[in-house]
Amino acid sequence: MASTPPGRDRAGATGPSPTARRPLIAGNWKMHKTQEQAEEYIQALLPRVSAVDGVDIAICVPFTDLQPMIDSTRGSPVEVFAQTMHHDPEGPFTGEISPPMLVELDVRGVVLGHSERRAFGGETDRALALKVPAALAAGLVPILCVGETEKERDNDETDRKLRQQINEDLAGVPDEQLTSVVIAYEPIWAIGTGRVATPQQAQEAIAFIRALVAGREKHAAEAVRILYGGSVKPENAPELLALQDVDGALVGGASLDAESFAQIVAATGPSRLAAASAARR
Ligand code: 13P
Repeated sequence: MASTPPGRDRAGATGPSPTARRPLIAGNWKMHKTQEQAEEYIQALLPRVSAVDGVDIAICVPFTDLQPMIDSTRGSPVEVFAQTMHHDPEGPFTGEISPPMLVELDVRGVVLGHSERRAFGGETDRALALKVPAALAAGLVPILCVGETEKERDNDETDRKLRQQINEDLAGVPDEQLTSVVIAYEPIWAIGTGRVATPQQAQEAIAFIRALVAGREKHAAEAVRILYGGSVKPENAPELLALQDVDGALVGGASLDAESFAQIVAATGPSRLAAASAARR
């Protein structure tokens, strides 16, 4: 993944914006796919994304699929991420995986603070305040997930929740490393429910998160990538990905099918253009 993202045109923009950020489309497989299924999937995905340009593509796979997916994606535009990790390099933590164990496999990054792991995997804000800097120190790209429950949104507590998560989870990250973090706004009520956030809800929450980062470091806020996640599908992706502050998507269910994931990748502006021009040649 490029650390200095090249520019990209936003939908409706007349030229590269000074704050252009390279989009990232990440598929979170959750607890899906044996090695055999993963191999079948990646052989279907690679030819579908080989012509795209100007977008980072990642699959976030179960631990058992990491090595085979890293082997199968070598030399391709697809990067492989883990779905969680412990912050310590080693220790008496049965069932956990450490940053050096991921780095040894050539894993590119790791999802941290997914609402499912916050709910039943012990990923508290306190743990995340250790995990996010530990990932960065190991050279892994953290995708930090934040988002409110339906009740919190109904009670007008979305901003409070996001402020708490961003402030606490990024507290241990030095200012100069903030741009190396990817943040994913995933409203919990939109995850796996088919109830996607409206473009206005997604844009507002993500702009709010960017303003929180600006409170820490103004330049970091312009460069940090913030994704939307929650019932992203090929049908709603173009509208969400065209939003001013949305720099990509974290996709669950729709990433499990290679064709629908490739369609979401193609919904980012520059890749769509590159694919179209490749098809014309
Ligand atoms: P769905 O796309 O299935 O709603 O899942 C979103 C998600 O949790 C990605 O991390």
